[in-house]
Amino acid sequence: MADHKELIKKTRIFVQEQLQHAEAGHDWFHIERVWKTAKHIAAQEAANLLIVELGALLHDIADAKFHNGNEDLGPQMAREFLSGERADESLITAVENIIRHISFKGSYQSGSYKTIELDIVQDADRLDALGAIGIARAFNYGGFKNRKLYDPAIAPATYNTKEQYKNNEAPTINHFYEKLFLLKDKMNTATGKRMAEDRHRFMEFFIAQFYREWNGVHSSEFYIQ
Ligand code: ADP
Ligand code: NI
Repeated sequence: MADHKELIKKTRIFVQEQLQHAEAGHDWFHIERVWKTAKHIAAQEAANLLIVELGALLHDIADAKFHNGNEDLGPQMAREFLSGERADESLITAVENIIRHISFKGSYQSGSYKTIELDIVQDADRLDALGAIGIARAFNYGGFKNRKLYDPAIAPATYNTKEQYKNNEAPTINHFYEKLFLLKDKMNTATGKRMAEDRHRFMEFFIAQFYREWNGVHSSEFYIQ
C-alpha cells in the first residue's frame, strides 16, 4: 500500500475525475471543503487521520440521490478504488462504513454504526450544509430540482421516513426548517458544535432578512454593519 500522503494524493485525483460533471452542491469543491473541515476537527480528537481523510474524500463519490437511489454504489466504488491501491481490508471497511452511514437520510435508521472517524466526517459534511455555503447550496439544489424559493402557503413539514424526506417537493426556504436548523443539535464533536452554532446564527439572520424583504419591510437598521 502507498504511504499516507501518496494514497491521499491518488484519492484526490480519483475523486476529482469522478466528480467532473457533478452538480455544484456536490462537486469537488464540496469534497475539498469537507476534507479541510474534517482535518480541522480531527486535530482536536484522537482519531485515525487516514480513515478521516479518505472518508471525507470518498463520501460523495456516487451520491444515491443522483444514481436512482442506489446506496451501495458509493461504498462499492470506494472499495474498488482502495483495493486497487492495495489498502488494508480494515481501512477499506472503515471507509465504506463512513460512506454508508454519513447521510442525514441514514439517521432515520437508528442505532447502527458509530466511530469517532464517522463522527468527524459527518460533522464536516453537515457544516458544509450550514452558513453562507449552506445557503448557497440549498438554493442551488432547489434550482436544480426546479423548486420554488418560498411559498407562504406551504408550511414546513416533519418527515418521519427516508422516503418522505427524499420525495418532498417543498420550497427551498422550508428546507431550513426541515433540515438545516436541526443540524446544530445533531453535531457529534465539540469543535463541530461550536462551528455549527456560528453558521446557524448566520442562517437565522439570513432568513429574518429574507422575510423582511419578502414582506416589503424597508428599514435598513437590520443589515449587518
Ligand atoms: P445528505 O446526503 O446528508 O442527506 P444531501 O445530499 O441531501 O445531504 O444535501 C446536500 C446539500 O443539498 C445540502 O447543502 C442540503 O442542504 C442541500 N439539499 C438537500 N435537500 C434539499 C432540499 N430539499 N432543498 C434545498 N436544499 C437541499
Ligand atoms: Ni457531502
